[in-house]
Amino acid sequence: MSRDTYRYGGGARLFHWVTAGLVLAMVPAGFVMVRVGPGSLQNSLFDFHRSAGAVLMVLTLARLFWRLRHPPQPLPDAMPVWQRRAAGIVHALLYGFLLLNPLIGWVATSAYGASIEVFGLFTLPPLTGQDRELAASLFRLHMALGLAFTALIFLHIGAALHHHFVLRDDTLRRMLG
Ligand code: HEM
Ligand code: HEM
Repeated sequence: MSRDTYRYGGGARLFHWVTAGLVLAMVPAGFVMVRVGPGSLQNSLFDFHRSAGAVLMVLTLARLFWRLRHPPQPLPDAMPVWQRRAAGIVHALLYGFLLLNPLIGWVATSAYGASIEVFGLFTLPPLTGQDRELAASLFRLHMALGLAFTALIFLHIGAALHHHFVLRDDTLRRMLG
């Protein structure tokens, strides 16, 4: 198969790298914002984290819809079956986290009673009434899922770099175009 038919299409690559850029900025922002203490830096990081998370949720829905209409080329037959399966499972989990964690963040923030402005452009409607106990439980879940998501991203990036620099195959080039 030629490299052109084998790689991801332009739309899939654009979705992938915009998502990667947002995630690589908003997840560290999430970890830092809860540790810097009150102030304008904390407020800006909170605003950025929530806004980017809300955008990611919509972007991921659009991406999955796009994927249904533009299915990617399968991984090469030469790749061991377990690796193809593992890649499929990791990708499905990444999509799951990209949809679920922003939703939990949205419900938790609503239960806390804070408003969610998306990049200062509009405000998301609250998904539930104020309930501080519910908010605390959901934020614990949000953090646990955020940590699991981060671990999976390390695995995903590690696998991509391993394919490129150690196995020296075309896996990363499929996504670079
Ligand atoms: C892919 C999307 C998201 C990911 C991966 C993510 C991940 C994280 C992480 C890692 C933390 C730090 C937890 C800690 O160390 O205590 C955090 C905190 C937080 N996130 Fe998100 N988040 C996402 C989306 C959202 C959205 C959409 C909102 C709100 C609309 C939100 C609201 C918050 C809030 C308010 C906190 C602070 C929680 C606290 O005070 O303990 N997140 N998030
Ligand atoms: C940081 C956030 C990232 C997320 C959430 C993410 C998510 C995903 C997802 C869901 C797919 C599956 C695409 C599909 O077939 O539908 C994918 C594929 C891929 N990603 Fe990422 N990615 C991220 C970062 C990166 C980075 C930094 C690299 C490179 C170092 C990378 C390299 C790749 C490659 C090479 C593929 C294609 C694998 C294949 O051919 O099956 N990703 N990514």
